[in-house]
Amino acid sequence: MSLDRRSVLAAGALLAASMPFAGMAQVALRPDHKARIKGLIRRMTLAEKLGQMTQIQGGRQKSLNSKLDATMLTRVRKGEVGSFLHVAGSDALKELQRVAVEEGRLKIPLLFAMDVIHGFRTTLPVPIALASSWDPLTMKLAARIAAEEAWAAGLHWTFAPMIDIARDARWGRVVEGAGEDPYLGSRMAVAQIEGFQGDDLSKGRRVMACAKHFAGYGFAEGGRDYDSADISERTLNEVVLPPFFAAQMAGAGSFMTAFNEIGGVPTTGNAAMVRHLLREQWGYQGLVVSDWNAVKELIAHGVAADQKEAAVLALKASVDMDMSSNSYAEHLGKAVAEDKSLVPLIDQAVERILSAKARLGLFDDPYGFGDPEAEKALPAKNRPIARHLAHRSMVLLRNEGGLLPLAPGKKIALVGALADDALSALGSWRARGQAEEAITLRTALEQAKLISGYAPGVSVRKDDVSGIPAAVELAKGADVVLLAIGEDYDFSGEARSYADIRLPGTQEALIEALKASGTPIVAILMNGRPLGLEKTLEGIAAVLETWYLGLESGPAIVDVLTGAVSPGGRLPIGFPRDGGQMPMTYAHMASGRPANTDLLVDSARYHDVDIGALFPFGHGLSYSSFDYGRIQLAVAELPAANDQTISVTITNSGKVKADEVVQLYINDPVASVTRPVKELRGFVRVALAPGETVTVTFTLGADQLAIWQPGGKWMIEPGEINVMVGSSSEDIRSKASFRVVGRGEGRRPATAIATKVDIT
Ligand code: NOJ
Repeated sequence: MSLDRRSVLAAGALLAASMPFAGMAQVALRPDHKARIKGLIRRMTLAEKLGQMTQIQGGRQKSLNSKLDATMLTRVRKGEVGSFLHVAGSDALKELQRVAVEEGRLKIPLLFAMDVIHGFRTTLPVPIALASSWDPLTMKLAARIAAEEAWAAGLHWTFAPMIDIARDARWGRVVEGAGEDPYLGSRMAVAQIEGFQGDDLSKGRRVMACAKHFAGYGFAEGGRDYDSADISERTLNEVVLPPFFAAQMAGAGSFMTAFNEIGGVPTTGNAAMVRHLLREQWGYQGLVVSDWNAVKELIAHGVAADQKEAAVLALKASVDMDMSSNSYAEHLGKAVAEDKSLVPLIDQAVERILSAKARLGLFDDPYGFGDPEAEKALPAKNRPIARHLAHRSMVLLRNEGGLLPLAPGKKIALVGALADDALSALGSWRARGQAEEAITLRTALEQAKLISGYAPGVSVRKDDVSGIPAAVELAKGADVVLLAIGEDYDFSGEARSYADIRLPGTQEALIEALKASGTPIVAILMNGRPLGLEKTLEGIAAVLETWYLGLESGPAIVDVLTGAVSPGGRLPIGFPRDGGQMPMTYAHMASGRPANTDLLVDSARYHDVDIGALFPFGHGLSYSSFDYGRIQLAVAELPAANDQTISVTITNSGKVKADEVVQLYINDPVASVTRPVKELRGFVRVALAPGETVTVTFTLGADQLAIWQPGGKWMIEPGEINVMVGSSSEDIRSKASFRVVGRGEGRRPATAIATKVDIT
């Protein structure tokens, strides 16, 4: 697609109708702050303005503050820096702030930022794991704990949440997001922003959130990080943008532009997307920061000849702050000398940066952050919460013959190097998390005296198979083998794309040897992305997805293995059978020749792989079972401006207390354009005692049926809507349909709107 300004503006035209909603959660700036900011901008030199627009490294990701030397302090005094990233520590940052507000000419406080992605000191489950909870409150709690600890260490701003929708597991950053679906993604985006920011950033113990990466970064071609994203306008508007729209409505204090280009326009220089769509049409007033060096990289993209041109492009796109490339600081001065019309754009950028500082309370009390006592040790209260969040993040993918929970009295062997890898338990982006504080699966099982022995088998990174015989010996003498397999933490994250998403190293050889031993196997997956495991998992009776669960990984997994906790998480992204199926989504468009199990029929499928996912979106088992009643609809005919209610009863028909994630999907069988075969439009995770029944009622606004139209409006079209309620995108338990009568205009992207859910 080509993202020309006309089409993006058209996309925004309808959104303009939603302006009353725009940015409603952003706390208004106090009049005295407004006046102060205006006054400062009047007094600032051009160099000081460009200083505010400059964010530089205070250290490296793994060695924070290492660059805060005397030269740096001089730069701060001279007003050459507006913000630091990769810094932390309340004492160090207070001293840095002191230099800015006591020794700087204009006494403007600095903004301190870091990637606090899933916990700060208390490392929590990685985002894809938290999203597997299918519970926005779980996600919100994780963000809140991360914010409290980050704030205690002097930070104001985190570069999270990453709300890129990802449908290609080869992309390494799947681990940082909430998966493949824009509806689930929008709910998780809002939850994180609320958790990080609280009601009012100036009250402290919270950090400013950053919705990133705007936009399309998760659609990198072939899953190759940083590569182009060739996205249709429909996919951009219906899939990629809704979580960002939801984030701006939730009051995200900042947005980060993405590295990638779409249709020939790198997003860091894309005025149509940032200035016109995000700001003018959506009404976003917060701070926009570039990604790392992305302003300068406009040269490598081939849209700027030099750093001056790159800086002008990014400024015109309305990128306020230049992360690390120094293009603004070093080159906008020359550009302004040639073109005075850039000055108002610079003033606007500075105003937004100072407004963010004001919202954080930094003009009232520049030292009002950090808590040296609290940051010293791992906060005791957060460990049990970390364990609880880990419980909620696990997904039971397979459980043949009820192998799990483990029956008492069995002799259990543990195999797999990942079971003893504390660093991997923390996952990527571990902020101040410390491996020695993590409890691995091996340690937890040994402490609980549950295993007869442990054998690492093979490393996930080496070709050495010499450990296999010992692992097989151990397995032969046991009733059950717990087998930790997957990837270590460094296989996932930024610049960690893989063409082959089967198990790395010689794990396959280990698994085949263990299968031959005949002892039943429970596979415990530790990984940051869906893997292509159909053949690998053949013959393995039980499979538990744990992702990377953080500090309390081991104890939390043991709780699920033993049945102290029934797993209730669901996949936020489907697992392929084979990596060759990538990209894939359950919500693919209807085809003229839908996939057919009969290979003699020409259809939309591969000949060498079965149709669809191995474990589909929304899939997850429990130690209990649930019966669904029939869908009850409030009306059979829905006027286009009205709400529909969809009710269904759910009964825990098993023997243990457990959670069920009730999922609502829709499908529009005949529309003006092709529609996805299924789209999530509501979900709720309910805890039910054995025998307990509840009625779940979803209130779906007609807006949520709206279809993006070329030209930009969202239209509710007349005709039939199929409604499906079930336990996963494939395990549909009840279906119904109703008719929409008349046409209507949707106010916002359909998936950005939360469906109301009542449980009675
Ligand atoms: C690059 C990453 O893409 C971004 O997500 C991160 O926030 C910055 N580096 C800063 O570390």
